[in-house]
Amino acid sequence: MPTANRTSASIVGICRRLYAQGYVVATEGNVSVRLDSGDMLITPTRVAKRTITRADLVRLSPGGRKLSGSRDPSSEARLHAFIYSKRKDVRAIVHAHPPYCTAFAVARKPLVVDAIPEVVVEFGRIPLVPFAVPSTGRLSEAIAPFVGKGDFFLLANHGVVACGRDPEEAFEKVERAEHAARIILLSRLLGGERRLGPRDVRELNTIAQRRKR
Ligand code: 13P
Repeated sequence: MPTANRTSASIVGICRRLYAQGYVVATEGNVSVRLDSGDMLITPTRVAKRTITRADLVRLSPGGRKLSGSRDPSSEARLHAFIYSKRKDVRAIVHAHPPYCTAFAVARKPLVVDAIPEVVVEFGRIPLVPFAVPSTGRLSEAIAPFVGKGDFFLLANHGVVACGRDPEEAFEKVERAEHAARIILLSRLLGGERRLGPRDVRELNTIAQRRKR
């Protein structure tokens, strides 16, 4: 079990990387971890991810009551709590606005999965969640039908949400999806991506299942 200190250090580390890689600017994005107690440790609202420190993090009960921290929690804390309530396997959530993925989300175009083998194996599918105003309960309602169907979501006209067993794993999903989105967009300058055949996709899905065991 990671200690509270290590958990908060890893949230801060992921915030810095989100900023350094251009997946958020200014105060955008938020990161949380579900602790063994069931409480959530989350980034505060409107604090730059470039400068955030462990002391800025906020601890919330599963019902959303503030247990510790001097700042207000992220405006998306409700969305994080909703995902944790539906997915017992998820221990960390990253929300960001990486430009290539977000371009697909803004265009309301699904991010093609079956053109790159690694993406099929890693993601299986990437749902495109219909638009709901950020920070409202409607965002949880919008993601509800998809929450059990993947670990990575495009939020229409907004950004992405990645789920993982720890912040590193959730961050890596953002990184992988962003790389794929960039490749797909570039391939469209060259006439567009060519999808893999159903047989190849089936084989890749089998490989993905084997990896999970
Ligand atoms: P917070 O600063 O409240 O976490 O909001 C950032 C964001 O990206 C909202 O979608």
